[in-house]
Amino acid sequence: MSDRVVLITGAARGLGAVVAEKFFAAGYRVALADIAEEAVRAHAHDLDPTGARATGLKLDVTSKVDFAAARDALVTQWGKVDALVNNAGASKVVPVMEITAEQFDQVIDVNLRSVLFGCQVFGQYFAARGAGRIVNVASLAGQNGGSATGAHYAAAKGGTLTLTKVFARDLAASGVTVNAISPGPLDLPIVYESVAPEKLKQVLASLPGGRLGSAQFVADAAVLLASGDAHFANGACWDINGGLYMR
Ligand SMILES: NC(=O)c1ccc[n+]([C@@H]2O[C@H](COP(=O)([O-])OP(=O)(O)OC[C@H]3O[C@@H](n4cnc5c(N)ncnc54)[C@H](O)[C@@H]3O)[C@@H](O)[C@H]2O)c1
Repeated sequence: MSDRVVLITGAARGLGAVVAEKFFAAGYRVALADIAEEAVRAHAHDLDPTGARATGLKLDVTSKVDFAAARDALVTQWGKVDALVNNAGASKVVPVMEITAEQFDQVIDVNLRSVLFGCQVFGQYFAARGAGRIVNVASLAGQNGGSATGAHYAAAKGGTLTLTKVFARDLAASGVTVNAISPGPLDLPIVYESVAPEKLKQVLASLPGGRLGSAQFVADAAVLLASGDAHFANGACWDINGGLYMR
């Protein structure tokens, strides 16, 4: 059993919930954070009804104050934090020529400012401890200019990959690594909720393997990148996109 502690944002549902389950199975003490407080507390309770190894907390990733409060709460509760997974994200598809300033700012805030604040708050904390792991969840859309999820979302995810490198460089000498995972379309609720059935058929046909990606596998990758042994993976992006985009 590990004594390691991880904080995962956007863990109430979807990929974040699966990431939390995988860290929990790996023996971590897991803090599940989300803006959807009730749902995230319920998922933490499902993982560990005693609360000894899973806790749910409210964290709006657009707020630096919320990241700092989560860090302080976990240091009080479990003595330390070893890893952060910046997973929370959101988008509303709008044709590129019609994106308003408000829509642009909102999507950039949730998907990119979140990564800046998470890396600032936990990067500083990890650097002071001389150890830490940050995993940022990017997206294929940020690599291939995909607009299926919105140009503002694609731009934010491209920015996530850049911030991953910036923080990786800045923190490397302090024993902290920062990496990204860049998934293609995954077999998750959001895909069925936001993509019309006809469009989904086209997406599946465009995938070289003909099937959506596994959130479990992406979560396993996050656990691997967060391990103490992962010191030589830094500033990298792990593409998990079914061969949709090769570079
Ligand atoms: N689903 C896919 O196919 C896919 C593909 C590539 C990348 N991703 C990325 O994976 C991550 C998770 O996606 P998902 O499919 O699970 O999405 P999802 O919409 O199912 O879940 C996102 C979670 O983030 C939370 N969230 C939204 N705004 C927040 C905020 N301001 N503060 C805190 N939490 C907030 C939501 O409440 C929700 O629980 C995102 O970063 C997404 O961009 C997903």
